[in-house]
Amino acid sequence: MIGEVLPGSARVAITGVGAKAPDRIVTNHDLAELVETNDEWVVERTGIRERRFAAEGEALSDYAIPAARIALAQAGLEGTDIDLIIVCTLTPDMVFPCTAALVGDAIGAKNAAAYDLSAGCTGFVYGIAQAYGMIASGLASRALVIGGDLLSKILDMHDRGTVVLFGDGCGAVVLEKVAKGGFLGFELGADGAGGKDLFMPGGGSRIPATHASIDRGDHLIHMNGREVFKFATRILVASAEHTLARCGVTIADVDVYIPHQANMRIIEYAVGKLGIPQEKVVINVDRFGNTSGGSIPLALADAQAAGRLHDGDLVLMTGMGTGLTWGSALIEWNGTGEGR
Ligand code: COA
Repeated sequence: MIGEVLPGSARVAITGVGAKAPDRIVTNHDLAELVETNDEWVVERTGIRERRFAAEGEALSDYAIPAARIALAQAGLEGTDIDLIIVCTLTPDMVFPCTAALVGDAIGAKNAAAYDLSAGCTGFVYGIAQAYGMIASGLASRALVIGGDLLSKILDMHDRGTVVLFGDGCGAVVLEKVAKGGFLGFELGADGAGGKDLFMPGGGSRIPATHASIDRGDHLIHMNGREVFKFATRILVASAEHTLARCGVTIADVDVYIPHQANMRIIEYAVGKLGIPQEKVVINVDRFGNTSGGSIPLALADAQAAGRLHDGDLVLMTGMGTGLTWGSALIEWNGTGEGR
């Protein structure tokens, strides 16, 4: 699915950004006490130096709610102004009810439509595309899209192939109609044949929780790292190129590039192939690892905090992950919400 915003369509922009990650920092040295690994290997193969892990008993909404409140405050809105909440995650508080409804209740968005969206590390891009469509069509007026995961809760702490890669964090954005700028186009896609390369087998209807499923590690992340690596490098480039071409712009027009923060080597490959200057690329994978749904909104919040997002800038975001899914969004930044 790919498309540019059609002439005459409503303009929709991100007018508030918020983020919240756990305080607890876990370094590669800390992980070397759990599995046979070392800081040098992890930094060289992934670029990750540290990540955040939530505390026992904490759940996604403990991070989604504060992130949402920051985004709302930045947009100058109250919870009651929001009529759509999408939480993009693999690690909701529980299977049901959806975490989005819990967030809605906490922020006072009493009658907002609320649901969780499962598209892994691409979730946030899927979420903003859906919210864009709802607002542009008039079905919703102001949306909160939250991307976040507490992957430490489903990590196999004895598997050195995955434990070093993932972390916890959450970001939130407010979307609303504006008079200028806003989203220019999206691409979303999925290839279910690759589902076997990154998955959690247990906890659904195929393998409900039993003592045996727990003993087998069915409720933890399973990954074929090499296959995911090949997919990620190919799709980050292809999805960005398709989206830019469809929107009639080139990579030289892009001011800020926010790739999914999976692995420094994957990002470097995409940056090289796309030919985008390093100073336009937002990177925080070294500090957070891969936070899946949280990856792009956390990086967006970092970019904003660093003063890297100016109204009129073209911002390109591309995610990829379990599914296997991928997605890109191109937006002309209008963070002040001019014309709303
Ligand atoms: N510390 C030390 N050694 C490790 C290790 C670790 N944490 N993890 C794996 N190794 C070992 C392997 O066991 C292997 O040893 P062997 O040669 O004796 O069998 C060796 O390092 C090389 O393993 P390999 O899998 O070929 O490494 P790699 O260069 O492909 O890097 C990943 C592994 C996981 C870092 C890489 O495949 C990757 O980044 N994949 C994408 C993962 C991803 O981003 N997933 C989420 C996408 S949304």
